[in-house]
Amino acid sequence: MIEIKHVSKVYPGNKKAVDDISVTINDGEIVGFIGPNGAGKTTTIKMITGVLNPNEGQILINGIDIVKEPLKAKMEFGLVPDQADIFLRLKGIEYLNFIADMYEIDGSLRKQRIAQLAQAFEMSAALNDKILSYSHGMRQKIVIMGVLICDPRVWILDEPMTGLDPQSSFRLKEKMREHASRGNTVFFSTHVLEVAEKLCDKVAIINHGRIVFFGTLEELKAMHPNCTTLEELFLEVVEHA
Ligand SMILES: Nc1ncnc2c1ncn2[C@@H]1O[C@H](COP(=O)(O)OP(=O)(O)OP(=O)(O)O)[C@@H](O)[C@H]1O
Ligand SMILES: [Mg+2]
Repeated sequence: MIEIKHVSKVYPGNKKAVDDISVTINDGEIVGFIGPNGAGKTTTIKMITGVLNPNEGQILINGIDIVKEPLKAKMEFGLVPDQADIFLRLKGIEYLNFIADMYEIDGSLRKQRIAQLAQAFEMSAALNDKILSYSHGMRQKIVIMGVLICDPRVWILDEPMTGLDPQSSFRLKEKMREHASRGNTVFFSTHVLEVAEKLCDKVAIINHGRIVFFGTLEELKAMHPNCTTLEELFLEVVEHA
């Protein structure tokens, strides 16, 4: 569960990037975070995951305050950031073992998950190469695999499908669905409205740092009966906000 309560963020010399947002994502839910470029999605995700501190408000992950107890809160979630260019000098397998050490995943379970996921994401042959030599999509996949191997209860993903081939994107969506159906929480940002439409239990739409809609697509459709597609709904909500 993720509870975001009256959270705001002001960057130095900037207007409010995130302006008094409140959203609760329950156990068992996949929530899509959508909104135009610069709307505040990545800033919100950085605050949820303790990369940035909010100027106002509070964020709880499974009841743990990310500002007050950052290490404890961080054990509850896995993050796929929007930039996957990290730990470039490590080999893929070294990165996965490093992440698994952090989350205290034991040896045999770790080995089994690495083998399964490497196969699912077609990364088996690349695990002994340095991440520096990986393509954009491969870097994205190794970061995703790091989260999936540790399997924390809350997954937070910033545009996770960007750069993935159709097969890997399909596998990831399948894993996200499975994770939520086991009673866990998935929160992800995307610009691909069809993904949000097919995968999400609810969507949060952000524009100019404010949440302009949060709820199910059925609720959104009922509010705008003239719109038939999510694209039309999105444009309507964003333009009227
Ligand atoms: N480090 C920073 N310093 C100053 N302003 C920033 C910084 N990062 C983001 N911003 C500003 O905050 C606002 C929100 O940016 P953010 O990256 O959260 O948007 P986003 O919704 O993730 O956009 P995108 O869809 O393009 O990824 C923008 O106006 C952006 O210019
Ligand atoms: Mg972003």
